[in-house]
Amino acid sequence: MSELTPKHMKDSQVAMIELVLPNDTNILQNLLGGRLMHWMDIAAAMAASRHCNNVAVTAVVDDLSFHEPIKLGNIVSLCANVNRAFNTSMEVGIKVEVEDFRTGEKKHSNSAYFTFVCVDLETGKKMPVPAIIPDSPLENKWFNDALVRRTQRLNQKHGIIHN
Ligand SMILES: CC(C)(COP(=O)(O)OP(=O)(O)OC[C@H]1O[C@@H](n2cnc3c(N)ncnc32)[C@H](O)[C@@H]1OP(=O)(O)O)[C@@H](O)C(=O)NCCC(=O)NCCS
Repeated sequence: MSELTPKHMKDSQVAMIELVLPNDTNILQNLLGGRLMHWMDIAAAMAASRHCNNVAVTAVVDDLSFHEPIKLGNIVSLCANVNRAFNTSMEVGIKVEVEDFRTGEKKHSNSAYFTFVCVDLETGKKMPVPAIIPDSPLENKWFNDALVRRTQRLNQKHGIIHN
């Protein structure tokens, strides 16, 4: 199979689970925002690298908000999905869910979009990535919305404002 043969979303999806330990928290015993961002970056990078079978570097992280604290001892589940592949870049969506194992209560905690660029390990040059194939109505929505967000990001980068 050629490296640029289109691939299905499910083939690069990543599920990563972490337990919030004392070294992950601030003095209020809440998960450090930087630690969560690190976990999100790692989960997203694994999905992007799986898709392009190469090194994927973080180029852009969209807005990230912390609505509620994540507590010491919570279980944090991160799901990463390549929403769309462009020429050398890919948008990865991450969903974070938090579980209190004592009660079994699960809550959606954060979501974010990361843009990764595929680079060659030897030369460091940008590399083309395979197209991605959505296989369900939900995956189609992620795929279509990713193009809208990319256009907005690139407009913002180039200072183009639409009211
Ligand atoms: C990411 C990096 C490879 C981009 O290199 P560059 O020469 O500036 O690349 P370009 O402007 O050609 O953009 C490369 C791709 O990223 C996309 N891109 C760049 N800026 C973007 C933005 N703000 N929004 C969306 N996509 C963007 C481009 O559209 C292009 O994608 P495409 O080929 O699919 O169309 C380079 O800036 C880099 O190496 N950055 C450091 C990465 C890193 O170390 N990350 C860890 C963070 S510390």
